[in-house]
This record gives sequence, structure tokens and C-alpha cells, in this order.
Amino acid sequence: MASERTQVGIIGSGPSGLLLSQLLDRNGIDNVVLERRSRQYVLGRIRAGVLERGMVELMRQAGVRERMDREGMVHHGFSIAFNNGIHRVDLRELAGGSVMIYGQTEVTRDLMDARDAGGGRLVYEAEEVRIDSLEEDGALLRYRTSGEDHTLECEFVAGCDGYYGPSRRAIPDTVLRVYERVYPFGWMGLLSQTPPVHDEIVYARHPRGFALCSMRSASLSRYYVQCSLDDQVADWPDERFWEELRRRLPDTLSDILVTGPSIEKSIAPLRSFVAEPMRYKRLFLAGDAGHIVPPTGAKGLNLAASDIHYLSRAFIAWYHDSNAALLDDYSEQCLRRVWKAERFSWWMTNLLHTLPENEPFEHRMQDAELDYVFSSQAMMTAVAENYVGLPY
Ligand code: APR
Ligand code: PHB
Repeated sequence: MASERTQVGIIGSGPSGLLLSQLLDRNGIDNVVLERRSRQYVLGRIRAGVLERGMVELMRQAGVRERMDREGMVHHGFSIAFNNGIHRVDLRELAGGSVMIYGQTEVTRDLMDARDAGGGRLVYEAEEVRIDSLEEDGALLRYRTSGEDHTLECEFVAGCDGYYGPSRRAIPDTVLRVYERVYPFGWMGLLSQTPPVHDEIVYARHPRGFALCSMRSASLSRYYVQCSLDDQVADWPDERFWEELRRRLPDTLSDILVTGPSIEKSIAPLRSFVAEPMRYKRLFLAGDAGHIVPPTGAKGLNLAASDIHYLSRAFIAWYHDSNAALLDDYSEQCLRRVWKAERFSWWMTNLLHTLPENEPFEHRMQDAELDYVFSSQAMMTAVAENYVGLPY
């Protein structure tokens, strides 16, 4: 049995865990990251890639600005297509902001490289990670690697292990409250080495179902179509995907859509989920471990970033100034922002998807709401300020 100690034990090496590890390290706070998967597996996951200003700022604070600033694409607007037309939301004019297009895979890679360069302690393929004891003054983590048992004695635990990880389950049922909405459809996503159909992101509402045109670079496109929850990737050969996407886009886009072989295809269900509180004793949940948003609006990664902003700041105040106020405030402060992003993601999802059990009344409500958004400066401003990200 090998035993180690650290100040902050971090479970999970997604964006939340890596960002926290890097920020703590830069502030002289010792930490160890335990990740169930291999490094290659973590880097193989394709996720969204729209960074709010706060996330960009946090990456810079973490000392990983270089490649992001060079390769990331700054977008000053995005569009919503409906009724064969395309309507732009000008983020700069309406909200004085922008978003940066930089894939979550790249964010993860940059943070992993930085942790390696800084001599960070990251344990990949850590099996059976569990929180063995959780007290008011510390916690004990247990795990196995290469057939050997390990313990990690921690002053604090950061649960950055996503929706399926063990951290949230360490909070007793009598304390934890969960709020959930599962949507009756999924997204079929496709990545292809083709030029994006439009120079900014386009969300499309169509009677056949929602579609989204996004990108990773000038030559790499990411597209999605709303699909059935019963669908498998095998149900969506490339030809069917492109044909369906084309039908859901306005003519101005479908006429110029460049198609090509898929590099990656995957289906994701859509879910809204919040667990409260985000702190229990010395355990702090961050990112997908505490909350899930449907991807409409691209808030998942950005919410993980705002949690890590609050959490890193709180650990720094504790270790540098013996001040526990921010740790005590963590859950409440995060949740206020989480719920607003949940609201926006839920609203965008309901506005743009075709609900299988939809009544004609709901369709008319969607029509009226879209018409209202694009005929009211106030509504469009509200959309823009949410899309660029509410302040921390
Ligand atoms: N032990 C150790 N690690 C675990 C365990 C476990 N039992 N269970 C899960 N993990 C790891 C996962 O393998 C994954 O690498 O925790 C990590 C969680 O990472 P993410 O799921 O990426 O979650 P997070 O870092 O909070 O990032 C949130 O990712 O899912 C997207 O849309 C989401 O963009 C958002 C962002
Ligand atoms: C993506 O590029 O994968 C993407 C963009 C915007 C979203 C969701 C996903 O809202």
C-alpha cells in the first residue's frame, strides 16, 4: 500500500480538474489529480468549443494563453436561422462582447502540457477512486493503479469527475437535492475536414428538427442535427447526415454547404441537471459533477470555468490568508450563476427544437418568441448578454 498526502486532491482531469490543478500550482498550493481514463482517451473526446470571456481570462491566468490566442477565432456574433432566413445576433454591438472558438480538446491538451511542464502530479488510469472518509478537517482518497492500492490524504477534495463520477455520490441523500430535466431528443454530431458553411455559428430551427453549424478552424467543421433518443450512430451514415442537415438549413447555406467524409460521429442526449449544495464538509463539486446543461448555448465548459474561478480563489484565500469566507460561500455563489446559465440553455433548447409531442400551440409559441426576439432590441440584448456570458 502506497500512501501520499496533498493539500487538494482533485478527482477527474477534464477541463475543471486540469484548470484547478494548474491555477493552484501557480499559487503554490500542492495538489494531485486522479483520473480514471488514460490521457489519450481524455484527449479523444470531442466536446463544444465556445469560450466566454471569463474562460479565456482564466486560461490566461493559468499561463496557457499562447496557442489559444494564436489559433482561437474571435466571433463577434452568431446567427439563428428559421423560416428559410438567417438572423444575426451582434454580440459586440448588443453586449460589448465576443466569444472565442477554441475546441475543448485543445483546452485540455494545453492544460495537460502545462501540468507536465510544471511537474504536476497527475495519475491516469486510477481505478476504483473513492472518497473513503470525509470529515470537517480533511479526507482520505483510495484508488488502485497497476494492481497496487494507494491512499491519498487530502486537506480538501475537489470533485471534478463529471456527471458519472463518485464525488457527488459521497454527499448523503439527506443533504443532496437534485433538479433534473431530460429532453426527449438527442444531438447527432459530425466532425469533418471541410470549410465551415458560415463564418460564425448558426443555430437552425426547422420543422424537421434543430440543426447547428459550428467549426473548429477554417478547414474543420462541426455540425449537429437533432435526432431521436433511440438512434444509434450506425443509423446515420454520412450521406444521411448531410442530406438531413441540408434540408434543415436555409437555402443560402444549404446551397454552399461543402460535405466530406466524417472524422468523428457521436450522439449525445440532452439533459438539464443541478445538484445542491456544491459543498459538503471538505468536498467541493465543480463542473459537470455538479450540473449539466443541454449544449444549446454552449454553456457547459464555461460553467465549469466559473466554478473553478470561485474555487481557486477560495483555496488561495484559505492557504494564503487563512480566510475561510470564500470557501463557505462557494456553493451559494456558484449556484446563482449556474441557475442563470441553466435557464438560458433550457430556453434556447425549448425555443429551437422540435418537440416530438409538440402541440400546434407550442409551435406557435416558438414562432412568436423567435419573431419577438428579432424584433425587439431588449430581447436581442438579453440573448447577447447571456451568450457572451454573465459576469462572475
Ligand atoms: N475516478 C477518476 N476520474 C473520473 C471518475 C472516477 N471514478 N469518473 C469520472 N472521472 C473523470 C472522467 O474520466 C473525466 O476525464 O473525470 C473527468 C470529468 O471530466 P468532464 O466530464 O470533462 O467534466 P468537467 O471537467 O467538469 O468539464 C465540463 O466537459 O462534459 C463537458 O459539457 C461539459 O464542457 C463541459 C465540460
Ligand atoms: C460546437 O462547436 O461543438 C458547439 C457550438 C455551439 C454549441 C454547442 C456546440 O451551442
